Amino acid sequence: MGGGSTYTPELVDGFARLRDLLPLEELVLVDPAADRLELVGGLARRIFARQGHPGRISWTADLDAGVDGADAVLLQLRVGGQAARDQDETWPLECGCVGQETTGAGGLAKALRTVPVVLDIAERVRARNPRAWIVDFTNPVGIVTRALLSSGHRAVGLCNVAIGFQRKFAKLLSVAPGEVSLEHVGLNHLTWERAVRIGGPDGEDVLPKLLAEHGDAVAEDLRMPRALLDRLGVVPSYYLRYFYQHDAVVREQRTRPSRAAEVAAIERELLEMYGDPALDEKPELLGRRGGAFYSEAAVDLTSSLLRDTGEVRIVNTVNDGTLPFLPDDAVIEVPATVDAQGAKPLPVRPLEPLFAGLIAQVTAYEDLALEAALRGGRERIFRALLAHPLIGQLEYAERLTDDLIAHNREHLAWI
Ligand code: G6P
Ligand code: MN
Repeated sequence: MGGGSTYTPELVDGFARLRDLLPLEELVLVDPAADRLELVGGLARRIFARQGHPGRISWTADLDAGVDGADAVLLQLRVGGQAARDQDETWPLECGCVGQETTGAGGLAKALRTVPVVLDIAERVRARNPRAWIVDFTNPVGIVTRALLSSGHRAVGLCNVAIGFQRKFAKLLSVAPGEVSLEHVGLNHLTWERAVRIGGPDGEDVLPKLLAEHGDAVAEDLRMPRALLDRLGVVPSYYLRYFYQHDAVVREQRTRPSRAAEVAAIERELLEMYGDPALDEKPELLGRRGGAFYSEAAVDLTSSLLRDTGEVRIVNTVNDGTLPFLPDDAVIEVPATVDAQGAKPLPVRPLEPLFAGLIAQVTAYEDLALEAALRGGRERIFRALLAHPLIGQLEYAERLTDDLIAHNREHLAWI
């Protein structure tokens, strides 16, 4: 779903390279944008052909026909496209709040636009294939996955932050990525790496050594001060910058174009390249998007689900007591064993208040955000914003509620 995305060649390249893990018979790209489907679908076929993949690739704007007979449905759609994202990244700045597509008020706007669309798709998938797995990369992944699970869908949420760290750390430590097990904990886009183990989940924790020897490189990538990593003894995801350095990020964002504007320019160039019949691999330019290693994470997870392997994958799934200070039905992002029954979190060592406090508060926000997305209404939006640790004040919550509604009228069914 969202097969016309400029990210699709990344996914298709992964399906082609990793065909032993996930021997795919047929890939159907579903998207309402017919012009994009032609361009992206054509390139997808050429990538399979170049790599000698025998699978069929087709595309359609007809969702019900597209999901018919599917074993797995991958969601990578973006309601309202980059134009809606540009809004999410812009109006919160006027209140001095971060402008971001998944964090803060912009993330709430995205949740409100997205949850009803995803639930409708999931219902239609279930009507045709009640056993199909839904793998969700559609943001905000935590809230969307919670919406899916609370409606009883067979779903797992996925993000590339963990696999990105795994690949990065493996390189710095000169070991194969599969050797690196992360103690990754938190919520989607609100996570910390607490340990980096070599040779399996019980292996030696080399995080102190990694920070001592490569702290500068890790910090530079995250655009956070190295001293913070050393003091905390963990590696936060770069989304924690929006919390730990909120005002500095806002100042920065005010001086430059939005990420959506940057991405829109990259996308125009990419689509032009995809139309070139001589192109038969994913272009380097795609590396300027944030989706590195998405395809590998998606293949790994889908393979574990469909082949019932019980492997450990870092995913978004139901808490069920894993973090005892959160409700059982909260969705958390942690290592989990994944088999044909779904994803079950591995136990997590007790969390220090420094992390648990923020996780608890953002979980409460996500709970209220889901309520607002499902049931609508100004007051529900206001409560979610008031509960958000980056907003929290009456004056801002009031104003951002009005701004959110004003900028998203066409996407809010209850208006
Ligand atoms: C990372 C995040 C994704 C997000 C993407 C944005 O991959 O994990 O959730 O969608 O960055 O990348 P973009 O190129 O669209 O800014
Ligand atoms: Mn993500």
